Amino acid sequence: MCYCQKLSVIILAAGKGKRMKTETAKVLHHICYQPILYYVLSSVKKINPKNIFLIVGYQAKGIKEYIEDKFPEVETVYQQKQLGTAHAVSMVKKFYSRLGNNILIIPGDSPLITSDTLKKLVDKKAAGKSLASILTAVSPNPEGYGRIIKDKSGNVLKIVEETDATEEEKQINEINSSIYCFDKIALFKNIININTKNQQGEYYLTDIVEKLVKKGLKVSCLKVKNNWEAIGINDRVQLYRTEKFMQKRINIKFMENGVTIKDPDSCYIGAEVKIGRDSVIEPFCFIKGKTKIGKNCIIGSFSQLTDCEIGSGVNIGTSTVTVNYDGFKKFKTIIEDNVFIGSDTMLIAPVRIGKGAIVAAGSVITEDVAPNCLAIARGKQKNIKDGAIKYRKKKKESKNK
Ligand code: UD1
Ligand code: CA
Repeated sequence: MCYCQKLSVIILAAGKGKRMKTETAKVLHHICYQPILYYVLSSVKKINPKNIFLIVGYQAKGIKEYIEDKFPEVETVYQQKQLGTAHAVSMVKKFYSRLGNNILIIPGDSPLITSDTLKKLVDKKAAGKSLASILTAVSPNPEGYGRIIKDKSGNVLKIVEETDATEEEKQINEINSSIYCFDKIALFKNIININTKNQQGEYYLTDIVEKLVKKGLKVSCLKVKNNWEAIGINDRVQLYRTEKFMQKRINIKFMENGVTIKDPDSCYIGAEVKIGRDSVIEPFCFIKGKTKIGKNCIIGSFSQLTDCEIGSGVNIGTSTVTVNYDGFKKFKTIIEDNVFIGSDTMLIAPVRIGKGAIVAAGSVITEDVAPNCLAIARGKQKNIKDGAIKYRKKKKESKNK
């Protein structure tokens, strides 16, 4: 059973993202053509919570604009000074009466988290009658994360941040994902007593765990099955690594649904792309935006397709590019069923290639092509008799001068 209807979600995204060394909000950095935040919110939306609050602060304007455009149901809450994760959560207290009984907290920098795992965490808390449930991961490389400190019987005692951990604690490889499900009353009652006595001088949300345990209240842990779901992006190297995981996840999903991807490591496909069964994607393809590709298509290597619609049985020659952006506006390319596009073709949108048409290799297509037409749009070739001999002679003469 899922208790998500009684659930409110708080996503933390106000931090400066110091380790990214960036002027842009960390959660707006892209992986696989979408902001980090897109993936977090997509997973959260799938569990259908009562409401979603997003804590913003550093570069709040950019995040707000993105949210209003793409996730208007999400409410942004401003944290003026980024005093720590506990302080960030406390910003939602003013909406207390509108909150569900359970509060799911997620850092905005963890895009690999899945809705299945979020659901399991919420269920775990409810089923075990605990006041909080922490999502943990056993990581071969726990550096940088908070460590889960347990007693001999495996009960959680507290979470210690890397910067505050002893050498012995640093050896622990069970880490805090920073994703928790809390009982609303317990959360807001105990968050107020958190202090800043730690290496970073911040109000740590992690400190609430020890507070609850010391009062004899039950805190449970859920170990995530795939530890990469818990990865948080703090710097550009983690950004790159996370993108590799996401790329693999997206490509595997396509393959599971009947699409052949010849070399998934070299192909980048956006999360909102749709591809029909028995289509083949050759190596080094980049497929972006809301591109739709029908069944039985072949997308030649080195093709770059953005916002376009492709019918069934279409053959896209190697190095084809749909040029959809004129620097101001984005336009769409439509390629109907059974079209053949020759290699190295530029399709300058907006443009429509009608059913069964053939576009000759090396064309720059700027106008619509009617069904079954053969379109050739390239400079006419001139073969000059003995031109090569004359050319070499001329070059030799100029060298000897
Ligand atoms: C945090 C956890 C750590 C965990 C790790 C998992 C704490 C103290 N530590 O560390 O135990 O292993 O996540 O990824 O919680 N934020 C705000 N306002 C603030 C401070 C932070 O909104 O005042 C946001 C950040 O934008 C970020 C999230 O909270 O999205 C987590 O903050 P971050 O600084 O990345 O925490 P970590 O050091 O990664
Ligand atoms: Ca983080």
